[in-house]
Amino acid sequence: MAEKARIAIFISGAGTNMAALVYASRIAECPYEVVLVASNDPAAAGLALAQAEGIATFAHPHKGMTRDAHDAAMETAVLEAGADTIVLAGYMRILSDGFVERWAGRMLNIHPSLLPLYKGLDTHGRAIAAGDRYAGTSVHLVTPELDAGEVLAQVRVPIAAGDTPDSLAERVKFAEHQLYPRAVAEYVGRWRDPAHLLARLRALALALAETDERESHGSPGFRVGGEKSGKYFAYFADQHHGTPHIALLVRTGSMDELLALVEDQPEIYFKPAYYGASGWVGIILNRPGVDWDEVAEWLHRSWRSVAPKRLTRMMYIADEF
Ligand code: GRF
Repeated sequence: MAEKARIAIFISGAGTNMAALVYASRIAECPYEVVLVASNDPAAAGLALAQAEGIATFAHPHKGMTRDAHDAAMETAVLEAGADTIVLAGYMRILSDGFVERWAGRMLNIHPSLLPLYKGLDTHGRAIAAGDRYAGTSVHLVTPELDAGEVLAQVRVPIAAGDTPDSLAERVKFAEHQLYPRAVAEYVGRWRDPAHLLARLRALALALAETDERESHGSPGFRVGGEKSGKYFAYFADQHHGTPHIALLVRTGSMDELLALVEDQPEIYFKPAYYGASGWVGIILNRPGVDWDEVAEWLHRSWRSVAPKRLTRMMYIADEF
């Protein structure tokens, strides 16, 4: 089995979601392991459980510290534990934008409402007051805007007659304890799942004008320019020629550019077998935190370099405005 993802869990309170994540990780097939439980409250009940489970813990009160300084202390603990993903589970602090941006695509949260409904606090009280039939919980990616990142998974929980915010919160937690470990497992498994990576790449490649997909030497390839005279601008390579990489291959401007990319950022770029000789670069996709906007830009650039003039001419005109 592939190496497991290493998650750090941030808590502030009871830590029942943290416990659910830990026990799910004890099942052999679980694709993640919990390498750290960290808190802004040394008295958080969940820390004792983590310690009893032999998991590294870190606790540092935020009182008297700036947000940046506290975040930095938490981040140092995360990096020292070698975590690649942060999972917020009842962490009652807003993280600074810089922190959130550094962990973009690698930080998840669980929020007790059916997002986009009821961001922020007192979700259950507000759902009851509104007369909603359902409350629920959502797992989402963390972005600088509070509770606004892409929703990865949700479960609905009915509001029963006579429910109070507390009784509802308790019932929603049963749902959370089922949902969160699965959503985390699914998410951390994604970036090493070739089918997921190919689907994402395909959507970006085929969104460009006059493209089609055609297999080449057993790999999915993407062409521009029509059925007869189409030219390849991208390939999807799944662990070819002994590399562990699942990668996108695109055209660069020159061999010098290719070599500079590989030298400067070997964690992202590599020189692929055969194609490298003609200036194609490999962009590694099976790593956490892939910047898909950057992937889209590479696809666009490679597409532009071989697309027929009648397609690119319009763009250059547009660029001049
Ligand atoms: C959960 O309901 C979660 O949705 C919210 O905070 C609560 C944490 O509970 N973000 P616990 O500490 O995991 O028991």
